[in-house]
Amino acid sequence: MSAAAANLLAGNLVAFPTETVYGLGADACNAASVARVYSVKGRPADHPLIVHVTSMDSLSDWASDVPAYAIALARDFWPGPMTLIMKRSTLAADFVTGGQDTVGIRVPAHPVALGLIEAFARVGGKGVAAPSANRFGNVSPTTAQAVSDELSDHLSDEDQILDGGACGVGLESTIIDCTGDTPRILRPGAVTVEMIEESTGLVVDGNRVERNEIRVSGSLDSHYSPLAKVVLDQTPTVGQGFIAMKDVATPHGVVRLAAPQTHDEFARILYSSLRAADEQGLATVVVAQPAGNGIAIAIRDRLKRAST
Ligand code: TXA
Ligand code: MG
Repeated sequence: MSAAAANLLAGNLVAFPTETVYGLGADACNAASVARVYSVKGRPADHPLIVHVTSMDSLSDWASDVPAYAIALARDFWPGPMTLIMKRSTLAADFVTGGQDTVGIRVPAHPVALGLIEAFARVGGKGVAAPSANRFGNVSPTTAQAVSDELSDHLSDEDQILDGGACGVGLESTIIDCTGDTPRILRPGAVTVEMIEESTGLVVDGNRVERNEIRVSGSLDSHYSPLAKVVLDQTPTVGQGFIAMKDVATPHGVVRLAAPQTHDEFARILYSSLRAADEQGLATVVVAQPAGNGIAIAIRDRLKRAST
């Protein structure tokens, strides 16, 4: 991992697995490297990046005014699939925050991610800025192959892709705005409303993930989209792709892309199944949405955007 950390320090990009999705990492203190992340992704420069750090001890480096409930969340869910938005410190430059006065911080749990960020810290790095390792607007990659398919035309010879296998969660982290009196969910994920309320003892307005002034790129209406048209909750017809829970039968002539047995499995395979649809050249994928709370909320959130 020290070679990859040295590569980050040298200003190059290192794509790495996290338990949610693969990220495209850069030294969060290097303006030129972070600028390359934007150009490799084809992402507008005013969309902020998440800074990945080794532990909650780094909060004081990057954030100011950390509320007590954010400390509780960090204790309970880091390392893990959760990003906290807080008032930024001076270390969090405009080129990372997109010019906002807040910064997103995450401690990922994947051993390769943590290993990389820890090795980077040992050579003096303060944090790794990383968006999902896909071209802007596309489905996030959950395997190293998917990262390569998305970005290899845009990466340089010095940049690297670390392979840590398929991501265990499969959907991007829960983003929680910690700048107000109570936590607010900006993007649902595997850390659910119930878990946040249990951890903080506060009521979360999380079932209504409305649009807000903050530029969360994932909150654009059309996002997380494959090439195939995604249609929700209809009966698929001959030649169409189909994703539904295992207990739902496959109509004749339909291409069954996935049949998860649990909602966790649904989240884990969703993006790779949408990629498979594109690889097979399917024009349309029908998805039967999972019902209920928990991670099903995050699945429906991404499906809504994929289908717009
Ligand atoms: O699971 C994840 O969060 C992955 C892995 C790699 O950590 N990362 C990820 O990054 O999904 P990205 O950039 O694709 O999505 C992060 C979202 C973006 O929509 C961005 O606008 C939002 O987080 N974000 C980052 N900093 C923010 C801030 N200060 N205020 C509001 N939104 C912010
Ligand atoms: Mg993304």
